[in-house]
Amino acid sequence: MNTEEQLKTSFFHKVSISDGARGQLREFLNSQTENFPRGIFEPFVQMIKEDFRTIVIELDNGDGKYFSFSEIHRLNPLIGEIFGELLVQNDQGHKVISVYDRDRLGSMFQGARYHQTREGGSIHTDNVNVPEPWDYLYMSCVSPALAGGENILVDGLRVHQELKASYPNALKELELPFVWEMRGVADELYRAPIITYNEEGEPLFRHLRPYMESAHQKAGEPLKDEQLYAIDVLDALTNSSEFQVRYRMKKADILLTKDAQVLHGRTCFSDAIEAVSLEDYEKGKGKTLKRTMERLWVRKGANDD
Ligand SMILES: [Fe+2]
Repeated sequence: MNTEEQLKTSFFHKVSISDGARGQLREFLNSQTENFPRGIFEPFVQMIKEDFRTIVIELDNGDGKYFSFSEIHRLNPLIGEIFGELLVQNDQGHKVISVYDRDRLGSMFQGARYHQTREGGSIHTDNVNVPEPWDYLYMSCVSPALAGGENILVDGLRVHQELKASYPNALKELELPFVWEMRGVADELYRAPIITYNEEGEPLFRHLRPYMESAHQKAGEPLKDEQLYAIDVLDALTNSSEFQVRYRMKKADILLTKDAQVLHGRTCFSDAIEAVSLEDYEKGKGKTLKRTMERLWVRKGANDD
């Protein structure tokens, strides 16, 4: 098995739900009952709790027509809470965030949040806006882009091995505190290292460069040369194809990652000219939907270890 195959089998898993399970979901959606068929997703809770760091769950049966946009939107919080507690992701108290391009000219480098732009790059973890750690990133594809928009998944454990083996000075620097902002959540700064370790000694990452650069500026503490060197090395590694798996999510795919061990990003994308947001689509203001992902941040239950 070559390295690439190994990376795919130990790091990236794709699973599909059965026709029977799909039927149960259909019945639930049609009947408007409260009895959500949780059992369908419980095996995946076990998978992500154990060795699997990235799972793609295919809900649809291949042609993307089984569930409507609104049905996927309705299912997401119900599926997400099977994995744990859903966290608030902005100052308006939202637990489900729509990731779509608000404005073709929007940019993270001018203060926008990543999920509001069409920009690619900036491979990162999502656990940067709040100091407290959480566990799983849940992304659901309501609609793919017209062009581009591949998801990039980076094996943080292998990046850490490479840092340790070849760039020990950069690693040491990444283990020291940096300044972070809580963009979109609160107007505060906090300090935390980019790399910390869990009880098993495995590395945990916290990284989103534009937010950190802007936090250092706000704090009046420009990044030092050693810090810039360390972040440059990290970014160079996370952008290397040998540590990446790329996957273009289809309609009704769900991506689950252990956020602190799987850095992620996407390639830039374009929607159709006439594409509209899900809100406008549901109001009948357009027939084509923009690339729309729904994102949940999940903290696994206290008794789940
Ligand atoms: Fe993200």
